[in-house]
Amino acid sequence: MIIRPANALKGEITIPGDKSISHRAVMFGAIADGITEIDGFLTGEDCLSTIDCFRKLGIQIEVLPNNKVRVHGKGPHGLQAPADTLYTGNSGTTTRLMLGLLAGQSFGSSLDGDASIRKRPMQRVIGPLQRMGAKITGRDGGNLCPLTIQGQPLHGIEYKLPVASAQVKSALLLASLYAEGDTLLIEPAKSRDHSELMLNYLGAKIRVDNLNIRSTPISELSARPIVVPGDISSAAYFMVAGLMLPHSEITIKNVGINSTRTGVIDVLKAMGGQIEIANYRRVNNEPMADITVKSSSLTGTTIEGSMIPRLIDEIPVIAVAASVAAGTTIVKDAGELKVKESDRIQTVVTELDKAGVDIRGTEDGMIINGGRPIRGTHFESYHDHRIAMAMAVAGLAADSESHIHNAGAVDISFPGYFETLKSLRR
Ligand code: S3P
Repeated sequence: MIIRPANALKGEITIPGDKSISHRAVMFGAIADGITEIDGFLTGEDCLSTIDCFRKLGIQIEVLPNNKVRVHGKGPHGLQAPADTLYTGNSGTTTRLMLGLLAGQSFGSSLDGDASIRKRPMQRVIGPLQRMGAKITGRDGGNLCPLTIQGQPLHGIEYKLPVASAQVKSALLLASLYAEGDTLLIEPAKSRDHSELMLNYLGAKIRVDNLNIRSTPISELSARPIVVPGDISSAAYFMVAGLMLPHSEITIKNVGINSTRTGVIDVLKAMGGQIEIANYRRVNNEPMADITVKSSSLTGTTIEGSMIPRLIDEIPVIAVAASVAAGTTIVKDAGELKVKESDRIQTVVTELDKAGVDIRGTEDGMIINGGRPIRGTHFESYHDHRIAMAMAVAGLAADSESHIHNAGAVDISFPGYFETLKSLRR
């Protein structure tokens, strides 16, 4: 993909549905009783992997026009033994949440994914699942895909999560629905809470008291319609582009603004970004609004601690904002970046360095001295959707044309990304 520098981006856009919520709508719909009508579903490759897995588990799922999906749920005990390996593609969320769901079934199954998934650590989910009684084996002592799950009766546990991970938390919550006795999870910092909100919307008994989450097993979930808000992680590329480029103003409609996800808004505002939120409303327990950004002069900032899980997926594009900001931006406590779709400390630093940015990786983040001009260059995506999209934003602010190699990776979470970007050029 060739990216030419842009003078201004202007207009109003909608963006695809939230990836985390789309996955959960299919998964939880499959184990609810009755038909779940999903509106605003993200038809990116990751969420299609989730649909494919549930079809193999005997669930009828209709993918309809206009981002609507209909899941014919069969209740908590309605899944069938799959004849084939469940293939999760590039999706960490699918792989980890499926582990939690499959651990307590009355049948065996196996999970595998692409080259990136085969490198991503699964012990963080499998360890606590084993304490609940799960039997899971795989490469590297059961840490890496392909993995084999022998469904077992489970029991509730009390577990302090060592990392703030919504994937680990959600996998354990899914397992807890099938366990005997309550499960108490204690998070080190608040991670996205879409599972808690959606499961309770469908009738689960999950009580949240700040960082403590207590789940009581349930005998049924009831299907209810689900509206998926736009993905704030996808909105982030346009927020940064609109703030960075001169003469720009972009409104992004219907974006999910769950407070566990809005770190990017808080940080860009702290950097001096003009960002307005309007038209606030709620859909199935999730807050949603329109976001408007205007060209702003940005300054560097420090991002650390409990802020990190609130913007972990947006760090690549925040690093682009930091590249043009005056002064230094420091990202720390973000070692989790190393185990994403790519090692995002290494990939962000390598790619922005090529473009002339003064950036250095650290053990748990990066340091960027902003303000140097960005040079047009040949960017590599490493087949990581968020690297492809972030480097395209860098390319818009560059002094000459850029190329994004393996740009097709954007289809993982944002089919049509480059077309939406193009529609805003003035
Ligand atoms: C996700 C949780 C986060 C995030 C990922 C989606 C989810 O991962 O980075 O893109 O849907 O639960 P971790 O749980 O590994 O932090």
